[in-house]
Amino acid sequence: MGSYFGISTILVLCLLGISANAHVFTVPGAPGSDITKALLKAFTDACQAPAPSKVVIPKGQFKLGEIEMRGPCKAPIEVCMQGTVRADGGSIAGKDRWVVFSKINGFKLNGGGIFDGEGNAAWRTNNCHKTFQCKKLPMSVRFDFVDNADIRDITSIDAKNFHINVISGKNMTFDNIKINAPAESPNTDGIHLGRCTDVKILNTKIATGDDCISVGDEMTNLLIEGVTCGPGHGISIGSLGRYNWEKNVNGVTVKKCTLIGTDNGVRIKTWPSAACTTTASGIHFEDITLDNVLNPVIIDQEYCPHNQCNKAKPSTIKLVDVSFKNIKGTSKTKEAVKLLCSKGFPCQNVEIGNIDIKYTGADGPAVFQCSNVVPKLTGVQNPKACTGPVTMPPGQD
Ligand SMILES: *[C@@H]1O[C@H](CO)[C@@H](O)[C@H](O)[C@H]1NC(C)=O
Repeated sequence: MGSYFGISTILVLCLLGISANAHVFTVPGAPGSDITKALLKAFTDACQAPAPSKVVIPKGQFKLGEIEMRGPCKAPIEVCMQGTVRADGGSIAGKDRWVVFSKINGFKLNGGGIFDGEGNAAWRTNNCHKTFQCKKLPMSVRFDFVDNADIRDITSIDAKNFHINVISGKNMTFDNIKINAPAESPNTDGIHLGRCTDVKILNTKIATGDDCISVGDEMTNLLIEGVTCGPGHGISIGSLGRYNWEKNVNGVTVKKCTLIGTDNGVRIKTWPSAACTTTASGIHFEDITLDNVLNPVIIDQEYCPHNQCNKAKPSTIKLVDVSFKNIKGTSKTKEAVKLLCSKGFPCQNVEIGNIDIKYTGADGPAVFQCSNVVPKLTGVQNPKACTGPVTMPPGQD
């Protein structure tokens, strides 16, 4: 059974209050205690309530084991997390997940709380970036089949694997999310998304060891705006084409984003010996600021980390209607722009407008390389488009 609390205090604690007659279920727990069972009970009670309900994780530090908060719920549900939850090593060892929200329609998560994946020990044993036969490590927070959701003011630190994974959701907004892990932590993608429709990621700051945001197959209508990345591997569409069940990507806009010291800036990557033939279309990058980025602008259709594919087979992922506009800043290498499209399926309708990327190294100036693409040029290009020699990007994950 949930308990009623003074609504005014709850509203002060959680800025996004729900209607005044909502049920509030506060998770009991002494500081430092394990709240896994109590949180599951509060969630289950809230989920069964016929009116919109709220679960509150109070301020303080708690342990949390593997937990799936699963709907469908009888009414919309809000989880207001004010405290810090720490991944309890024992109960998630060998699992591929830690906190899962699934099958919820009408969901809010907020409150300023922190998911601490305590990944430090796991990173040292993780070899998943080098081999695909490795022991899975838990992703910190998963949203599976969550629709009509507003997720804001939440922090994830030191995930053992991906920080946030979003799959098969519709109409989701992520706003003011903070993600933090060391540059050398492997596989700690900030936010990975796949098979979702109508998702926004806004005003978010991601410092991590792998992709800042990575976009998997079957994404439709994704907006990434006002995101700052670094350190990490940058914003990536793909990798696409690794699995034969993949479907098309359509409509990804990345705008007003800043990348600081990342391995890539804005990237589209597809496997050469793709297991499927799909199209990725309507992919637009605009108003991007780069600060000392290794591969600032890159289409890489020969993405084959650690030689795990047949590079001789051209990628069968078609890239159509792609634009890069108003991209400025500095590059750490002279190869500032690389558009390496598939020889089997050259990129179609690629537009480049106003690029101004500087490289100050002794072997400069910056170059802009193209293969299997004839971009439509508008505005200014610095470096000049498609004049540099074509070289492969440095090996990278
Ligand atoms: C999208 O989700 C929000 C909740 O975050 C909701 O208020 C809005 O009505 C939903 N939009 C549609 C079209 O269902």
